[in-house]
Amino acid sequence: MRISILGGGGFLGRKVAARLARDGRIGDRQVTALTLFDIAEPPPPEDAPFPVRRVAGDVAELPEAAIPPDTDIVFHLAAVVSAQAEADYDLGRRVNLRGTDSVIDACRRLSRPPRVVFTSSVASFGGGQNAVLADDARQIPGNSYGTQKAIGELLLADASRRGFLDAVSIRLPTVTVRPGRPNKAASSFVSGIIREPLLGLPAELPVSDDFAVWICSPRRAVDWLLHAATLDTGPMGLDRSVNPPGISATIAHMLQALDEVRPGASKLVARVADPAIADIVGGWPTAFDPVRARTLGFAAHEPLVELVRAFVADDLEATRRERASPG
Ligand SMILES: NC(=O)c1ccc[n+]([C@@H]2O[C@H](COP(=O)([O-])OP(=O)(O)OC[C@H]3O[C@@H](n4cnc5c(N)ncnc54)[C@H](O)[C@@H]3O)[C@@H](O)[C@H]2O)c1
Repeated sequence: MRISILGGGGFLGRKVAARLARDGRIGDRQVTALTLFDIAEPPPPEDAPFPVRRVAGDVAELPEAAIPPDTDIVFHLAAVVSAQAEADYDLGRRVNLRGTDSVIDACRRLSRPPRVVFTSSVASFGGGQNAVLADDARQIPGNSYGTQKAIGELLLADASRRGFLDAVSIRLPTVTVRPGRPNKAASSFVSGIIREPLLGLPAELPVSDDFAVWICSPRRAVDWLLHAATLDTGPMGLDRSVNPPGISATIAHMLQALDEVRPGASKLVARVADPAIADIVGGWPTAFDPVRARTLGFAAHEPLVELVRAFVADDLEATRRERASPG
């Protein structure tokens, strides 16, 4: 299988690349080539048993080398994330909307339609703190990022119907714990309140302790993306979008899980209200009833405490090293 990862230098892009390099396969097929594309040349995964090509460029003006002619699977993860897309409307629209459009155009030029795995978001829904959404809930986003993601899903579903490509869009929960440095996502604090105390650093909590959020671990997000790349899309029909089986957690429960792994660590979390952040994340639904995802074979989520332990096992040391270096 020849695979391209757009946004291959980002958090999830690097994790997917590392997993492909480790497994050497996707589903029951061997990976024969990997192209990583991002604004800057992405780092290669370690010890890949297949050739890795790295390409730099803008997804809104996608160079041909980003999706080479024989590509079987495209992971379209390149995006401007939530708070940044809200702060800079033109940038978000160009990357998130025109970028997805140019991915469709690039796929149309291939000799056979590739599988396209698109990362949509829980932010494409409204509903707020009391919402538990069914699979057929309408997307009524309360921010530009969510709107751009919802439009991307529709464009990809239509392109699938036309036979240009074969899309699966996953509406990812807030992926927690994000390694490295805080980022420009409105939900950055959700990871921050676990990651920073585990590094021995203070963290700010802009919402209340009973604030609930729909989350998933990076491990599970990668499992879902890989499953989406190989599942039979026949049963999906015209609806190419999936609400995956994340978990609904309150801040209090997350801090409890943190203390279970590192007793007393939650004392480093300071309550500093931020109405702008609370406004964006407060509109996102806190839970889903993801029946369709289970039927389609998406893996169930592990308990909250496992999510904290997985960060310690997978990313804590690398994050410590990254944070110790300048930049
Ligand atoms: N991490 C989450 O909690 C989460 C939740 C829901 C959805 N998503 C979606 O999953 C995908 C991956 O998320 P992530 O957390 O890895 O984000 P990330 O910001 O780490 O990765 C996105 C990558 O896109 C690249 N990019 C931005 N503009 C670009 C452009 N013009 N041309 C080429 N590349 C460009 C960035 O450089 C970055 O490496 C994104 O589409 C995001 O919207 C993430």
